[in-house]
Amino acid sequence: MDPNRVLIFDTTLRDGEQSPGISLNTAEKLEIAHQLGRLGVDVIEAGFPITSPGDFEAVQAIAREVEGPIVAGLARTHVQDIDAAWNAVRDAARPRIHTFISTSDIHIRHQLQSTREDVKGQARAAVTHARQYCDDVEFSPMDATRADVEFTAEVCAIAVEEGATTVNIPDTVGYTMPAEYTAYLKRLYELVPGLRDIVVSVHCHDDLGLAVANSFAGVLAGARQVECAVNGIGERAGNASLEEIVMLLHTRGEAVGGLHSGCNTREIARTSRLVARLTGYAVQPNKAIVGRNAFAHESGIHQDGVLKERATYEIMDATTVGLDSNAIVLGKHSGRHALRQALEDLGFEVSGNALNQAFHRFKEIADRKKHVTAMDLEAIVADELREEVEGYVLEWFDVEASSRRPPHATVCVRRPDGTELKGSFTGDGPVDAIFRAINSATGIDAKLREFRVDAVTGGQDALGETSVVLELDGRSAAGQGVSTDIIEAAGRAYVRALSNAVRRREAAERAEAALEPEPATP
Ligand code: KIV
Ligand code: ZN
Repeated sequence: MDPNRVLIFDTTLRDGEQSPGISLNTAEKLEIAHQLGRLGVDVIEAGFPITSPGDFEAVQAIAREVEGPIVAGLARTHVQDIDAAWNAVRDAARPRIHTFISTSDIHIRHQLQSTREDVKGQARAAVTHARQYCDDVEFSPMDATRADVEFTAEVCAIAVEEGATTVNIPDTVGYTMPAEYTAYLKRLYELVPGLRDIVVSVHCHDDLGLAVANSFAGVLAGARQVECAVNGIGERAGNASLEEIVMLLHTRGEAVGGLHSGCNTREIARTSRLVARLTGYAVQPNKAIVGRNAFAHESGIHQDGVLKERATYEIMDATTVGLDSNAIVLGKHSGRHALRQALEDLGFEVSGNALNQAFHRFKEIADRKKHVTAMDLEAIVADELREEVEGYVLEWFDVEASSRRPPHATVCVRRPDGTELKGSFTGDGPVDAIFRAINSATGIDAKLREFRVDAVTGGQDALGETSVVLELDGRSAAGQGVSTDIIEAAGRAYVRALSNAVRRREAAERAEAALEPEPATP
């Protein structure tokens, strides 16, 4: 393999999906995985199959359908975890099992309530077991950067001896610093010479805002795989951001001996929008690479400079990350064939009933909005994916808003079994009224925690995209909706969040009834 090639291991669907409030259905995960394939990542960590039947099903679907990247499933060192991971990824053209156990004393003592000797035994058994199934096995000593390097080296040496093909060194709690991480990796290479014959990987969290800097330090120290997530989502402050790593290598790789990734940078913006939309995690405006201001110039001096010569204040060209692709694609009179072609140009393969449904939505929107752009189509397709899960559906609503009377809403919500439920409420504002009318119709007393409205494109007739986070019995759940009518988009987002919350409550009740605690996620 090219010694300067850095492998991009995407964990948006596993570590990213562990962010609070994110609950992607299988269709949504598949859509993200297909887009990651177009982006050209090397590995997709598709999920943690033992954690729930839904996670297993999604990993299996990705393994069966997505061509190109290696598809990995995460597993603790337990036999059942490894079996579940293997069964989920086995149909992939290139499957991988990723198994992990902590090597820091703080985790061994308090979380695992075990001993170093036991950890060594578990690591050995897990890698051996995984290798019986699969030639591609990754091992991670969790919380490595807070662990004794000599002990971590012993565990890594065992993993290499048993046939691990990638060893990943996680900075699980985002604690290390670039120079410290470099020194740690150097010492590991000295203590475990076998690491030079396999791929060393880095996995850094962003608790101190150093995830990308630490990952890059790891690469300079010899690692050739970076674990990262689109928009930097992930546990707590998140993971290293994929787009930052890829563009860092693209922009400055030559300065460090020609290091590069295999990603198609022009797919970055679209991937970021898809992930933001489906997870409900908006990107901050000033976020590097994908924030809406990342290529905007506000001050007169900067604008003047860029107009004369782009390079005066820009180190990257916006088109390199795919930020030039919002041409008007369709109008009111466009037919089914044109829609299908436009969707295909955007990378969506839609046919049969899904195409009919998308066409119906497109016509509704085209009636209210003059031109339908690529960004609008992305929003419609994402919204249709949300419909693929069984749940409550907002059938119709009436909202009366006036500055002289309190707003009043009446709604009709269809339950998953087809029953229609009606409810009314007089609220503080029209959005409050529709949310509480939905609570009254369903009899579910959810509490609104967050509500956000964004415009998909500029202009007065822009599609509105809403995001709702609510809380039910101490669990939070999110939902999103799209429409030219903000109240409708809000109502759709609310019923979806409610469906997700109910699904979570039912899963927790089932787990409790079976006395099987949900596995602790890393
Ligand atoms: O942060 C972490 O340590 C992880 C491991 C499972 C790699 O996510
Ligand atoms: Zn992690």
